[in-house]
Amino acid sequence: MNIAIFGASSKLSIELIKQLSEFKITTFGRTSTNIYFNAEDLSSSSIATLNKVNYDTYIFNLGFIQSKRLLDQEDKDIYKSLCINALFVIKSCEYILSNNSKARIFIIGSESGKKGSFDTSYFLAKSMLRAYTKERQLISPEQQLLLISPSTISDGKMTTDRADVDTIARYKKQHPKKRFLESIEVASFVADIIKNPSTYLCNTEIELNGGKFSRMTY
Ligand SMILES: NC(=O)c1ccc[n+]([C@@H]2O[C@H](COP(=O)([O-])OP(=O)(O)OC[C@H]3O[C@@H](n4cnc5c(N)ncnc54)[C@H](OP(=O)(O)O)[C@@H]3O)[C@@H](O)[C@H]2O)c1
Repeated sequence: MNIAIFGASSKLSIELIKQLSEFKITTFGRTSTNIYFNAEDLSSSSIATLNKVNYDTYIFNLGFIQSKRLLDQEDKDIYKSLCINALFVIKSCEYILSNNSKARIFIIGSESGKKGSFDTSYFLAKSMLRAYTKERQLISPEQQLLLISPSTISDGKMTTDRADVDTIARYKKQHPKKRFLESIEVASFVADIIKNPSTYLCNTEIELNGGKFSRMTY
């Protein structure tokens, strides 16, 4: 199996590369990767060039979050967020699904796409991934499209960069598992699905949230 990983610098991608080491992996990113790309470039020609080689499996692990409310975000930052968090991934999927009848695509989403976020651009972009994954019909039985949406990842850069450590500590205490996810745990889950040859699980979102949204008490 040959695997393309977009967003190679993320700790989650680094863990995935370790867990999928028996396969041929090509990394895409802005630093120290096999192939350079910038998710703010949505041109059809760039997306076609990036995808000139067909891979068996694609992992899109991209994220950009802002510590400003939508009302304080500049137009260019809102557009940047939509590009990185959704539109680059969606346009790439459109290309891949039209040109690779065996493509298996795994996208890293976020619980924010369901519940919202301090950063409304991030929330709306991640919710676009949910809508796309659920509604985009696949053109061949061998194709697979899945969205994997974690809750807070304690060692992910998006968490370690946060300044509101008291809020994070409170969320952890309230969580049914009394802890957050680790990048290695998310990577292990994604690697397991990739290693399973079945493509029947598709066009759906897998929520890795530890049960935090369950409402019925006992
Ligand atoms: N951390 C969490 O608590 C959490 C929770 C739920 C979901 N997630 C999701 O998990 C994934 C990984 O998050 P993380 O915490 O590991 O954060 P991260 O290390 O910041 O990963 C984000 C990735 O996106 C890439 N990226 C950002 N802007 C880009 C651009 N313009 N062009 C190309 N690549 C770009 C980054 O590459 P560069 O190094 O080039 O910037 C990096 O590889 C994201 O999809 C995020 O939404 C995270």
